[in-house]
Amino acid sequence: MNNHRLMSNNLLLKFLQGFFLLCMRSSLESATTFSSGNESDFLALLDFKSRIVQDPLQIMSSWNNSIHYCNWVGIICNKSNQKVVVLNLEERQLTGTLSPSIGNLTFLTGINLQNNSFHGEIPHEVGNLLHLQDLNLTNNYFGGRIPYNLSHCTELREIRVSYNILIGQIPDQLKSLRKLVFLRLGRNNLTGRIPTWLGNFSALHTVSLALNNFQGSIPNELGHLSNLRMLQLYGNSLSGSIPASLSNASRLQVLDFYGNGLSGTLPENLGSLQNLIRLNFEVNRLGSWKAGDLSFITSLSNCTALKVLGLAQNQFGGEFPSSLANFSTQMKILTLGSNAMHGSIPVEIGNLVNLTLLGLENNHLSGSLPDAMGMLRKLEGLELNGNKFSGLIPSSLGNLTALTSLSMEENEFEGYIPTSLGKCQNLLKLSLNDNKLNGTIPKEVIGLSSLSIYLNMSNNSLTGSLPIEVGKLINLMEFDLSENKLSGELPTSLGSCTSLQHLYLQGNLLEGEIPQSLEHLRGLDDIDLSRNTLSGKLPKFLSKFLAVKHLNLSYNDFEGEIPQEGIFKNATGVSLIGNKKLCGGVQTLHLPTCTDSRPHSSRKFLALKVVMPVICAVIFVICLCCSVVALYKIKRTRKGASKSTFSTDDWKSGVSYSELAKSTNGFSKDNLIGMGSFGSVYKGTLSVDGAIVAVKVLNLEQKGASKSFIDECEALRCIRHRNLLKIISACSSVDHQGNEFKALVFEFMPNGSLDDWVHPINNDQHYESRKLRFIQRLNVAIDVAFALEYLHHHCQPPIVHCDIKPSNVLLDKDMVAHVGDFGLAMFLFEELSNPTKNPTLTVGLKGSIGYIPPEYGMGGQPSTLGDVYSYGILLLEMFIGKRPTNEAFKDCLTICQFAAMSLPEHIMDIVDPFLLSDQEENVDLDRCTLEECLVSVMQIGVSCSITPPNERMPINVVVKKLHAVKNLYDRSKNRNRRETAGRTEHLSLISNHK
Ligand SMILES: *[C@@H]1O[C@H](CO)[C@@H](O)[C@H](O)[C@H]1NC(C)=O
Ligand SMILES: *[C@@H]1O[C@H](CO)[C@@H](O)[C@H](O)[C@H]1NC(C)=O
Repeated sequence: MNNHRLMSNNLLLKFLQGFFLLCMRSSLESATTFSSGNESDFLALLDFKSRIVQDPLQIMSSWNNSIHYCNWVGIICNKSNQKVVVLNLEERQLTGTLSPSIGNLTFLTGINLQNNSFHGEIPHEVGNLLHLQDLNLTNNYFGGRIPYNLSHCTELREIRVSYNILIGQIPDQLKSLRKLVFLRLGRNNLTGRIPTWLGNFSALHTVSLALNNFQGSIPNELGHLSNLRMLQLYGNSLSGSIPASLSNASRLQVLDFYGNGLSGTLPENLGSLQNLIRLNFEVNRLGSWKAGDLSFITSLSNCTALKVLGLAQNQFGGEFPSSLANFSTQMKILTLGSNAMHGSIPVEIGNLVNLTLLGLENNHLSGSLPDAMGMLRKLEGLELNGNKFSGLIPSSLGNLTALTSLSMEENEFEGYIPTSLGKCQNLLKLSLNDNKLNGTIPKEVIGLSSLSIYLNMSNNSLTGSLPIEVGKLINLMEFDLSENKLSGELPTSLGSCTSLQHLYLQGNLLEGEIPQSLEHLRGLDDIDLSRNTLSGKLPKFLSKFLAVKHLNLSYNDFEGEIPQEGIFKNATGVSLIGNKKLCGGVQTLHLPTCTDSRPHSSRKFLALKVVMPVICAVIFVICLCCSVVALYKIKRTRKGASKSTFSTDDWKSGVSYSELAKSTNGFSKDNLIGMGSFGSVYKGTLSVDGAIVAVKVLNLEQKGASKSFIDECEALRCIRHRNLLKIISACSSVDHQGNEFKALVFEFMPNGSLDDWVHPINNDQHYESRKLRFIQRLNVAIDVAFALEYLHHHCQPPIVHCDIKPSNVLLDKDMVAHVGDFGLAMFLFEELSNPTKNPTLTVGLKGSIGYIPPEYGMGGQPSTLGDVYSYGILLLEMFIGKRPTNEAFKDCLTICQFAAMSLPEHIMDIVDPFLLSDQEENVDLDRCTLEECLVSVMQIGVSCSITPPNERMPINVVVKKLHAVKNLYDRSKNRNRRETAGRTEHLSLISNHK
């Protein structure tokens, strides 16, 4: 028995020993593999890290010795041998060069550095990565050539290097990369020809070479690519014709050759590409100005998925292709403008019920418009201008209620303007000029308050007076009714059109005085009222319009003395000839001096009456200033240097480069706190008074930065509001190397940007504390709305911010929000006043992706309602906790639609989950009230960011509605507090009794 036990004890001992040794061995083994075998990966990563010069999100802080490198942010290792297989640092705001030792990570299969600021060349050591499948460097500043020894990476499936500054040709050596599926080289400075060997890459799915300088013709060989879905070659200098062989690449969905020099005719059998979705050949030299040019169109009726056909700005001649009517009803965009087509529009056009843009402008089309056009109810843009269309404007056009742009100018339309157009309540631009229209202007049409870019009815034979409904055009910038037969007086209501920059009423029969109400139109820069019979004195306010550059009042019946200030100082800006009763003014106007009819004494008396109060006022102001200065000095001598040395007005005096360099430790990267739209922001301490400031240094190499500096100075000079970021000073000078240097100095916001709070980074030290409670979010939302309300409704002229997004909302130490970054801001009267007459599919955008209102993409000009859109997105983002660019909103669904779909029953399913789990908040707020509040907030967000601009909720209404939510919250909180307090009181009573 004992023996037995002994034996079993021995066995146990042996077993334990064995186990112990095993453990030892395996731990030793892992230590050796780490220090020898994989040391190379470890060292290579350290070297990678050492080339990162800016890392505001502190991603690289996890890359240290205390953590195994397989657990560093962005690293994925092979489990069995601990080798790095994926390096993924997508969108981490990193700046630096890419270390050549990347080539030592020999097991790498994927590199993803997209959306950072890497510069320098792509190291040719990447060619050592024989397992590499996926190279993604999109949207950085990589320069130099594409390394030719990438040709060794024969496993490559994806090369994505779009949006860099690469030069040179596509190296011929790359013909070895036969497994390539995606080749994206768009928007670089690449040159040379498109290599013919691409035709051997049978797996190719996407080829984008757009926006480079490629030359020569499109190789026939691309027709061999039976897997090709997308071929984007737009924005190059390609020539020749389009190879017929392309119709063999039977899986093609997208062909975009916009903006090249392609000529010849299009292959007849394009229609055999059954999967085509988008065909864009705009802006080339295709066609021969002759009949038959468009015969390929017939075959396209087989393409049942076709949504976009762009043929505008080519040389297509011949009859308007009536086979268009047989196209798939999927068609959304059809542009044939600026060609040489003739013929008329067939009735069957009404079949294309999903069209959103129909461009037929600048051709030789004739005949009348079919009533069936009214069936195209989804049309947002209809361009018919510059043709020979005749007959009446069909009243069915009033059914096109989604229209934002209607261009019918330069045709031969006749008869009345249909009142039904008044139903098109999303119109931003309407032009009917240069036709043969007559009758009066319908009040329904002139009262279309959505019109904000232009309304042009000039050069017709319109009669009657200007309807008072004109006063509804409060967003309109350009108004042209010149060269008609309008009569009567100018309505007082015209003074409500405060966004006007251009007012053209010349060549009519208008009479009476210029109404005093027009003094509100201070944004006007071009006024033409000539050739009417307007009378009375020239109103004084005209001389106070600061923006005005041209004022034409000639050939009217004005009388009396001409003012001498403002525009009247400059004889070249005004024209007053043909007004026989005008006198005085500056000498260069060459008008007779005014002979005085009033008795001398009364004039003197009058002068006294006017001058005395002015003198008194001036004296009073001077006294006031003196006492303020005196007080200020006393205060300063008492207190020593006061905390804010820069008063709000002397910021213009500026600070020097040296002072800023000193305050930011020589712009050291330790002081870098962020990157704005046009430069970097540093934290600094001014030596004068120790004030902590944020210094925004403009990157002058970036296009537009200089203009942005001026815009921002200009915008900030004029505005003061609790919720706007305060500028302290500016610096425009040269740095120590003699380079131009521009910087703005702001008050420092210790809590960073709203973006940091809405999207805290998981491994950030602040992660846990950076969670905003419901009421904090609501307060920030109200602050931002306040700031916008001030810009839109209390600044003269109104200011459009143009870049509202969470990273431009900064939080001070008390979590009060301040809107900053006025780099894109503009005064409403300052905007480009030359809206493109031929809108094409590509338009420059203003703002940040995800927050840009859709109308800007359609050529719409910045407007306050555009800011409201961005604000709505910001509001939804704050409470949902997801960016508008989040994957969840891809498939044709915007964050706004996403929220709208969940309203009201499912709102709790989509809000930031933290809002529901916040214990502290739950004490104050019962779930029902929280839900009620969230529904209201989401509703406001949705009504701000709907597509039709004029249906958006104006920001002053937003402010009111958000306040109502806050009241609801406060009431509930007080009720709950009272109840809790009541209960405690009750308890203490009981315990006292005991
Ligand atoms: C990368 O490998 C090369 C060649 O083996 C070696 O010379 C270099 O030091 C390595 N780089 C790093 C950072 O370890
Ligand atoms: C590179 O980006 C593309 C597109 O965003 C993505 O599909 C791919 O997975 C990325 N590659 C890596 C290694 O993350």
